Amino acid sequence: MKKLWKNCHIATMQDGQYSSIEHAAMVTSGQHIHWVGALKDLPADDYSEITDLNGAWVTPGLIDCHTHSVFGGNRSVEFEKRLQGVSYAEIAASGGGIASTVRATREASEEQLLASALKRIRCLLKDGVTTIEIKSGYGLDYTNERKMLRVIRKIADTLPMTVRATCLAAHALPPEYQDQSDAYIEHICNEMLPKLNQEGLVDAVDAFCEYLAFSPTQVERLFKTAQSLNLPIKLHAEQLSSLGGSSLAARYHALSADHLEFMSEDDVKAMAAAGTVAVLLPGAFYFLRETKYPPLDSLHQHGVRIALSSDLNPGTSPALSLRLMMNMGSTLFRLTPEQTLAAVTIHAAHALGLQSTHGSLEQGKVADFIAWDIEHPSEIVYWLGGDLPKRIIQHGTEISI
Ligand code: NIG
Ligand code: FE
Repeated sequence: MKKLWKNCHIATMQDGQYSSIEHAAMVTSGQHIHWVGALKDLPADDYSEITDLNGAWVTPGLIDCHTHSVFGGNRSVEFEKRLQGVSYAEIAASGGGIASTVRATREASEEQLLASALKRIRCLLKDGVTTIEIKSGYGLDYTNERKMLRVIRKIADTLPMTVRATCLAAHALPPEYQDQSDAYIEHICNEMLPKLNQEGLVDAVDAFCEYLAFSPTQVERLFKTAQSLNLPIKLHAEQLSSLGGSSLAARYHALSADHLEFMSEDDVKAMAAAGTVAVLLPGAFYFLRETKYPPLDSLHQHGVRIALSSDLNPGTSPALSLRLMMNMGSTLFRLTPEQTLAAVTIHAAHALGLQSTHGSLEQGKVADFIAWDIEHPSEIVYWLGGDLPKRIIQHGTEISI
């Protein structure tokens, strides 16, 4: 049963970067891509369904590779405080910040967390996101991290999206372990992570390596445990200060290191050598009114893959549109529209270890794609928000939005 999708232009992202075919067609078979090429080269076949895409530009389904989209409450009150000049670190030090979302998340039931997360994630889906990574990290004990991870699995059962669950138990120190951060890391390594992994709830492990969270030594202890459980690694690194977390992540062959405003030249070199993806988060950069830029020239010069993501979270990036983040990534971090499109497709797939199945439109890959009603692919980056007209095809089937 092959379906033909014709009368379109396709940004394929094949060969790991932006590339395109004008006057193209695509053939899907079940959930996968069977053929992509110029319409004139289309092999004669018996197609069970033919869809006219009316001259649309087709891209891979967008991939949001770093979100904290499951959480209780929100932090609009803190937002107001920050507007009055109180810093993110000061709010965290006075018991707000991540700790306040932990309180609200612990109080919420699985059903409540699922309902509020679905509202947010549907916004991303309508914006063209067909693959999303979601982190735990607002539970900070076994019961509540498990609750968050179970909600993430339920999101995968509810929405037509590929969902990856990352355990971020090492996001902040829970109140039960005040002044005992080493003991909390030991608890994660000896109890929480092995159990949560055993229950099939974890696809990757992340931590917040920062002066107001966990040290590189503590993160390394966690990485060793993740390695022993065969779990891929990611890291929040160099967001507020330079601790060398991204070099550490590279040493452990992490899929990605994320944020990176304060990374050094040596960190860049280490990530380039390891093939660790740099995930830049323009929403958090903007929302915290950061002024220090990630070392963009150096990242390009050393050939580090750059991904962009929403970082959707209640404290530093309440971002409900990946396209808006693409515009901000392009404007703030001087990425070309082509680099920006690669950043939310093939490079984001690498950041999740999904590059052999997702992120580009090539024979054998999953048939997740968006047909955008636009004149040129740069428009996906150019328009600021809004509901850009599109058709969304997930696993070979058009979904209604
Ligand atoms: O990616 N940096 C740490 N974690 C989140 C913020 C979480 C929060 O403030 O709730 C981030 O920016
Ligand atoms: Fe984050």
